[in-house]
Amino acid sequence: MPYIPEKFVEDVLSRTDIYDVISPVVELKKRGGNYFGLCPFHGEKTPSFSVSRQKQLFYCFGCHIGGNAISFLEQYENETFVEAVEELAQRLNMAVPYENDSAAARARSGERSEIYEANKEAANYYYMVLKSPAGKKGLDYLKSRGLSDETILKFGLGYSPAARDSLYKYLKEKGFSDAVLRAGGLVIYTDTGQAKDRFFDRVMFPIQDANKHVIGFGGRVLTDAKPKYLNTAETSVFDKSRNLYGLHLARRSRRSYMILCEGYMDVIAMHQAGFDNAVASLGTALTPGHASIIKKYAGDNSFTYLCYDSDNAGVNAALRAMPILKGAGLDARIIDMSPHKDPDEFIRALGAEAFEERINRAKNGFVFGIEVLENSYDMRDPQGRTDYINAVAARVAGIKDEIERANYVNYVAERYEVDVGSFRKKVTQIALEGKAVFQTYSEPPENEVRYDIESNDMNRPQGVLIAAMAQKPEITRVVKDYLTAEDFEEGIYRKLVTEIMKQADEGQVKPQIILNMFDNEADRAFVSAVFEEDGLSDMTDEELSEAVKETIYKMVKRSMETAAKSGEAGTVQDVIKMQKKLQELRNLKI
Ligand code: UTP
Ligand code: MN
Repeated sequence: MPYIPEKFVEDVLSRTDIYDVISPVVELKKRGGNYFGLCPFHGEKTPSFSVSRQKQLFYCFGCHIGGNAISFLEQYENETFVEAVEELAQRLNMAVPYENDSAAARARSGERSEIYEANKEAANYYYMVLKSPAGKKGLDYLKSRGLSDETILKFGLGYSPAARDSLYKYLKEKGFSDAVLRAGGLVIYTDTGQAKDRFFDRVMFPIQDANKHVIGFGGRVLTDAKPKYLNTAETSVFDKSRNLYGLHLARRSRRSYMILCEGYMDVIAMHQAGFDNAVASLGTALTPGHASIIKKYAGDNSFTYLCYDSDNAGVNAALRAMPILKGAGLDARIIDMSPHKDPDEFIRALGAEAFEERINRAKNGFVFGIEVLENSYDMRDPQGRTDYINAVAARVAGIKDEIERANYVNYVAERYEVDVGSFRKKVTQIALEGKAVFQTYSEPPENEVRYDIESNDMNRPQGVLIAAMAQKPEITRVVKDYLTAEDFEEGIYRKLVTEIMKQADEGQVKPQIILNMFDNEADRAFVSAVFEEDGLSDMTDEELSEAVKETIYKMVKRSMETAAKSGEAGTVQDVIKMQKKLQELRNLKI
């Protein structure tokens, strides 16, 4: 395989203007500091696709695809990475200096297989511990939740001992290098450089990809400590947006459809009850990436059953998942589990047969959606009822397929006892007025994101801070005065900050080159989202400065607290010095 040296790629990216690449194919209009147009990657009526000349990135606020000029060509023109670089080089009249399969590329794929190997050994170790006296409380716990020995073995469940270095020692003895254990996210290092296990005193759920490689772990506490589950951080093999828990089993199921649920325990309980087609996302909301994986294994059958928790957050997650599934060509049906909270509880209470019945009675997404909508109207009041029917008419008007739309006109009219002729007229009128409501992606409201528990409440502010750093070198200088990369969330955020600080030292921050360091599409989309932080461009300089200071302040405080708790705080003088600096921060002009 020909390989293009990274240095050359960076050169090409520095000289390319992303606007010149995208504007011939997407009509762009200037709005604020960015350009906006209709997203070429999903159908939409109002522009949510943005191109930043300053950052040399694009990002769609609707479907969350994003990246640099190379990613655009890869996705829009369906080119490979090499082809995309070639095309850009050609525009610049630069000759591409090919190399053959580089040592770096070989090292990357070598690292991946070593991480798989280390994870597999770790899973074996955790299983062994579970079955030993040291893991007794874990085993008792799993049994108390109704899991059989066979199920425990099938999912390779285990226990991580309380000691903070037992896995580390075990794997070192097996000959794994520190670098691999770290890259795989099994081991973390303290400030003093000491290796510690990431997971301890938790029931362990190995997470496997479709080909059965162990790519990461979820670990559940037995108490009600938080977070309930700790998951492996992003690594080069663990990509939450491209994997589903249980997929390696579900893909071989004789049932031709998949059941998508929310939790690890739900998947396990369902498989134990015979529903070996259950999968779950890994503690994140469903992404288009997940949907396309499901589509790939679903074959000709386009149904997917959603079995989300029956609380509000679950209902909203289901409502958001539907258009994403639809976008991938899947038809979502929703399984109602009331009065139980989740499939695990349902099956334990009512059994597999009752569950099968619920599958047969699952509702399609449209019907589910309008039933949920009922809750926002006073259905006993004639005015409330009329408003509701009009809202439903707007949704019917948004159905693209004519036959489908006609069917729903009849369905709604019959179900809510309204005259079918008048209802049809209403639908047409709404469509003509351009007030139809389309099913499109929508961002989960912030207060409803219950997943990603590890990514604590500092997550979004950190994103804003990073975007601001990329935009203004002054901000990076201030941040460096107070924080190090280690103060940022492990994973993508930390990697970004490290790079921004490095580039700022070298003179100029180039987001398009930083983005290039992430080698999967999902990470690149995430990075673009961070850089294109919505709202940042709407902030005045003063607001931005306040937001930056506030975040720095909170992060310093938090780091000091964590350090104090773990007994790793500096001397009293250090603490006092920092507190003084924090006061200065308040009055700092940025
Ligand atoms: P749930 O809280 O519904 O978990 O979260 P569950 O699997 O049903 O677990 P039990 O029954 O309480 O033991 C759903 C999923 O969200 C992610 C996990 O993937 C979990 O399975 N999650 C939840 C986290 O990643 N971290 C958390 O702290 C909580
Ligand atoms: Mn549960």
